[in-house]
Amino acid sequence: MVETNSIAAPLKVEYDRASEVKAFDESKVGVKGLVDYGITQIPPFFYKSICDDNPVVNDAQFSIPIIDLGGLNGDPFGRKEIVDRVREASENGGFFQIVNHSIPESVMEEMKEGVRRFYEQDTEVKKALYTRDFTKPLVYNTNNNLYSSPSADWRDTFLVRMAPDPPNLEDLPLVCRDILVEYSKQVMKVGILMFELISEALGLNPNHLHDIDCTEVLVLLCHYYPPCPQPELTMGVTKHVDIDFLTILLQDDIGGLQVLNNNEWVDVSPHPGALVVNIGDLLQLITNDRFKSVEHRVLASQKGPRVSIAGFFNSGVLSTSKLYGPINELLSENNPPKYRETTVKDYIAYSSRKGLNGIKPSEHFKLAKTE
Ligand code: OGA
Ligand code: NI
Repeated sequence: MVETNSIAAPLKVEYDRASEVKAFDESKVGVKGLVDYGITQIPPFFYKSICDDNPVVNDAQFSIPIIDLGGLNGDPFGRKEIVDRVREASENGGFFQIVNHSIPESVMEEMKEGVRRFYEQDTEVKKALYTRDFTKPLVYNTNNNLYSSPSADWRDTFLVRMAPDPPNLEDLPLVCRDILVEYSKQVMKVGILMFELISEALGLNPNHLHDIDCTEVLVLLCHYYPPCPQPELTMGVTKHVDIDFLTILLQDDIGGLQVLNNNEWVDVSPHPGALVVNIGDLLQLITNDRFKSVEHRVLASQKGPRVSIAGFFNSGVLSTSKLYGPINELLSENNPPKYRETTVKDYIAYSSRKGLNGIKPSEHFKLAKTE
């Protein structure tokens, strides 16, 4: 009797969770739909499961640097100083914010508004776009990894691939079509500049990372974090590293983004006009650990909705057979390659299988130690 119970009980819990997740997913209403229904208790499949309760420090000696790119114009000393700051931030915290990056304030505001309009349009219109088919030009759902992750995040997302092949205009939602196109152009310009500065920070030719196609693919992940009635029980985004070369993030003024620094969580506080830049795990791999991808997360909050737009620069759509490994020019006798080569496609496939489990996917591509 006892034995039967002890076997049956966990199975039953498993089964219920799976069917609750499925019912939620099939309803296609998203997290926003739950909030619109007026729920006061969140479904248990949103309860956070991984332990990331490191202390949170707010008066840190460490804070995320804000780098003013205004000094790039003309003055060669200005550029050197900026490259030095980019190097310092990329080697240590993995995160920085940039101001005077050339994207007009009006474009940033309209981008956030456009994403908000998408989520706040009629539920039936959105339901037609809700999908897990990643071959679609626009993929809107709650958590890409809803079925593989032990806990769901309190967030809806739509993603669009804006480069290399821009989507057909009619595949973009009318409520934010123009601004998606405009913002993508602008963020691509900033991305190309950032890869130049990062190349220089590594002592490479400014075009090196661009030439190996780090800027080839741009995916925009447009996130919407509805206010959460029980924020202490769940997460906006579970801790993770970004599985790309570089991310350029536009966030609104709600806050909640935190980055792990020396085992403490540090706020990436909203800064007027700033974009957040962070090193992706693939850049860590090709720089042979010189630049670090750093774990980050977003807290759930009673405040909201929060809107953010993450521009992921990664390759692999066209050049599926192109191999990425530690960049030769960065290697030496004292700095032998730490990783084996991989295609971005295999790297992404591996990362997606693993979900957000707190381990950097690049670890899987580490070469065994020879000594
Ligand atoms: C991401 C991410 C943070 C945010 O999209 O990978 O970490 O503030 N987003 O939305
Ligand atoms: Ni991220």
